[in-house]
Amino acid sequence: MTNPANPNAAAEPVLEWAGYEIVVAVCGGIAAYKVATVVSGLVQQGAGVTVVMTSAAQRFVTPLTFESLTARQVFTGLWDESEKHDPQHLTLTEAADLFIVAPATANMIGKIAHGLADDLVSTMVMSAACPVLLAPAMNTRMWNNPIVEENLGSLKRLGYLEVPPEEGWLACRTVGAGRMAEPETILESARVVLDTPPKKGR
Ligand SMILES: Cc1cc2nc3c(=O)[nH]c(=O)nc-3n(C[C@H](O)[C@H](O)[C@H](O)COP(=O)(O)O)c2cc1C
Repeated sequence: MTNPANPNAAAEPVLEWAGYEIVVAVCGGIAAYKVATVVSGLVQQGAGVTVVMTSAAQRFVTPLTFESLTARQVFTGLWDESEKHDPQHLTLTEAADLFIVAPATANMIGKIAHGLADDLVSTMVMSAACPVLLAPAMNTRMWNNPIVEENLGSLKRLGYLEVPPEEGWLACRTVGAGRMAEPETILESARVVLDTPPKKGR
């Protein structure tokens, strides 16, 4: 939007998602680096974004990347010192309007589908009171594994949302299905969820 008092001033961003709280859980896949673009896109729309990471995710991208993009602490562990008096898995999920898991690994999809809560991300998903959007990403053979298909199918039947992976170039230097949806597609899916009332409740 141009400032009429000073047409040369930088355009003010339209903060369409101001007031929304979004949790982005990053898991351990090579597509983790693309989640930086997703997080930046959410922040640019005015959303408050908190990133949580599995320990495998931190092998691919550092918490500092997301801390810089969100200007917030990144949470990485259920047992972190700072979380003892204020269980983050409860306070963060209580405040969230949307919970994005990207990349959603075969491991994390399996854990959620079976009700496991043995790390910060899976425990937070378990306590989420908002829509949960999964963006799976994995090698084609993993993606085609009927166990993954069954786990994802049961999650979708329970109301979990999916941004399906695409076909394309994979980190294992092959072309096939399992490539995480592009950041723009994930942002568009987030928009659809946030624009769909009710604001909370899966
Ligand atoms: C180089 C490398 C790339 C990987 N990429 C993926 C991937 O894209 N998708 C996936 O499901 N697992 C992938 N894995 C395996 C996961 O990192 C592994 O299953 C891990 O336990 C996942 O932990 P998390 O779900 O807690 O993040 C990859 C492993 C390595 C070493």
